[in-house]
Amino acid sequence: MSNPFGVWQQRVEGALEQSIPATTTLPTQLHKAIHYTVFSGGKRIRPILVYAAGKLFDISTEKLDKAAVAVELIHTYSLVHDDLPAMDDDDLRRGEPTCHRAFDEATAILVGDALQTMAFQALADSPLSSDIRLKWIQLLTAASGSEGMVGGQMIDLETVTESDELSTMHLMKTGALIRASILMGATPGRPDETTTDNLITYANSIGLAFQVRDDILDIEGTSDIIGKPQGSDLEQEKSTFVSIFGMDSAKIRLQKLHQQAIDALSLFDSRADSLREIANFIIQRDH
Ligand code: IPE
Ligand code: IPE
Ligand code: MG
Ligand code: MG
Ligand code: MG
Repeated sequence: MSNPFGVWQQRVEGALEQSIPATTTLPTQLHKAIHYTVFSGGKRIRPILVYAAGKLFDISTEKLDKAAVAVELIHTYSLVHDDLPAMDDDDLRRGEPTCHRAFDEATAILVGDALQTMAFQALADSPLSSDIRLKWIQLLTAASGSEGMVGGQMIDLETVTESDELSTMHLMKTGALIRASILMGATPGRPDETTTDNLITYANSIGLAFQVRDDILDIEGTSDIIGKPQGSDLEQEKSTFVSIFGMDSAKIRLQKLHQQAIDALSLFDSRADSLREIANFIIQRDH
């Protein structure tokens, strides 16, 4: 990704380094597995969204570091558990063996558990005021739990056939954390109701688009570029946007969601340009 995203990516790498215990910390095997998993070249799109939403209100990146770290830790934990044999049973993630393949299943379960609590520790450790930290915790718990990402992962294990159900699943398993990233970035700016509503519309559009693009890449991508096994959804007979509506329909839907996202930003000035660029990136991304 081009600047300013490159700068934000580097920034969150540093912030993650500071928030995660060293590999020499006991138990070293667990901390090695955590480092292996976190520092494996993710796109860091959720931290980028935190910083981009903050830019709308001229909030410094420094103030948002802990929020950026927290969303990335929750996301990384979700991937470690998503790849387990009991879930998607995948061997490749970000171009490397998945955590349970590089280590073992029990370690991968514990890595996910540890990353989840570490995320909330990061929020608690932020130097920002306690009302902002509390709001962040409310946003992130709601987005990660049984009515957010985890709930979406549960629906993903069931067979989904209806359009509404599929959108709900995507909005929960992927959209919820994307929405939380944006709202957490905006929180210190104390956005009014109209601004919040527009940000939620933007977030839901790109959140859904992100997973529709992911479903397309499972078919059209190559393992080398996507960094995960191509065709995994097909093999597992997953209900995806492509399996239910077909590739043409998925691509049309992606364009519509992109337009919705851009329209939702129409009230904002050039400080929303990063959010506009992220919407463009999400529908075109090849990994
Ligand atoms: C993959 O997320 C899981 C989905 C929600 C589709 P990303 O595509 O953001 O994964 P990384 O963090 O860049 O590897
Ligand atoms: C993952 O959806 C969503 C979460 C991890 C919460 P997928 O199962 O489609 O993600 P990938 O394709 O394995 O990255
Ligand atoms: Mg999955
Ligand atoms: Mg998966
Ligand atoms: Mg996928």
